[in-house]
Amino acid sequence: MNNFEFQNPVKVLFGKGQIENIANEIPENSRVLVLYGGGSIKKNGIYKQVMSALNAFTVFEYGGIPANPEYGVLMGAYKMIQEKNIDFLLAVGGGSVIDGTKFLSGAATFSGEDPWQILTEGIPTLKGMPFGTVLTLPATGSEMNSGAVITKADTKEKRVMGGKGLFPVFSVLDPLVVKSIPTRQLQNGVIDAYVHVLEQYLTSTHPAKLQDRFSEGILQTLIEVGPEIVKDPSNYELAANFMWSCTMALNGLIQKGVPTDWATHMIGHELTALHGIDHARTLAIIGPNLYQHQFENKQDKLAQYGKRVWGLTGTDNQKLAEEALNKTIAFYHLMGMKTKLSENADNFENTSQIIFERFAERGWNELGENKTIGPKEAKEIVEMAY
Ligand code: NZQ
Ligand code: ZN
Repeated sequence: MNNFEFQNPVKVLFGKGQIENIANEIPENSRVLVLYGGGSIKKNGIYKQVMSALNAFTVFEYGGIPANPEYGVLMGAYKMIQEKNIDFLLAVGGGSVIDGTKFLSGAATFSGEDPWQILTEGIPTLKGMPFGTVLTLPATGSEMNSGAVITKADTKEKRVMGGKGLFPVFSVLDPLVVKSIPTRQLQNGVIDAYVHVLEQYLTSTHPAKLQDRFSEGILQTLIEVGPEIVKDPSNYELAANFMWSCTMALNGLIQKGVPTDWATHMIGHELTALHGIDHARTLAIIGPNLYQHQFENKQDKLAQYGKRVWGLTGTDNQKLAEEALNKTIAFYHLMGMKTKLSENADNFENTSQIIFERFAERGWNELGENKTIGPKEAKEIVEMAY
């Protein structure tokens, strides 16, 4: 096992009715800016619960953060933070609202000229404006990690940022929010979390036995509850298991001391930036092709995954690995994913070339756990997904 540090400062308030407890977590006399998305929280009652929990504070609000939070829209909130002397942010939403809030947390303490530099120059946020989250959509794990992904519409870019200053102070995980989530977003949530685990597990074999078993446990739970939660989102126990699996898939725990991949995500972000495809769906398009492309490197781990997660039997690792890959694709289909780029976008023929050029320009030559994926390999993988 590699050396590691593990510090996760996020206080999680998990369970029914926890929204009403947020006031205890926000410093007295705070000037709070509540951030949210396109309005789902006004229809499902979450907005009302949050506002009534905040009645002792001076509260401002900024709605309209779109899926794949957009820089220009966020700069409107940035202005408001300055004009209204905001000192605490509260994200009420899914990964997009939480990530947008992380951007604002970083931008509010950034001393450079243009906050977009945080993303293009990879500047870590060591101390951001404090913020909490009320999670409304289990998927990204953003509620318990310190990363964010921000989109710039005019240049069709989607870039990542992070830093130890971007952990939420607290996150409310109330599984009751799941019942109003549309099917498509439930499917996305299950697959995003599933691929988060694969990025940290489906690499090379290593001696960190517990890490592997944490990962396998999350994958098995998602395989069990994923199809069920889509059919019955108001089932509290299913929702609770779904929600906790998504959070645990990307809160830092399972990646400690082990190799990680993340190339599926980095290529997938380009598909969202170029074609507007939902984040999780880009992962279902790229992932299986990337595992196929890197088959030799990943074969032993794929075989282990096949045996332990899918219950496959046999001793021929190549055969087990191939079967595991087929099981994975079948699961993605069961969860409503279409795994070809052509099924998700029109006019996609130039995509691989554009991604090649972008990766080359950014010097992204060494993605993946073995640093074997650069512009050329990314291009090949995208073409396999056509
Ligand atoms: O905008 P509203 O009206 O709120 O509707 C949202 C949105 O349309 C809706 N929704 C959310 N909760 C709901 C609900 N509808 C009804 N009832 C509820 N309880 O769902 C739609 C999608 O929301 P969004 O936040 O975009 O989804 P998700 O949580 O999947 O977030 C995706 C974003 O997170 C990034 C992705 O790249 C993408 O930008 N990611 C962030 C990560 C991180 N910070 O760690 C890691 C991930 O890999 C990912 O990249
Ligand atoms: Zn993801």
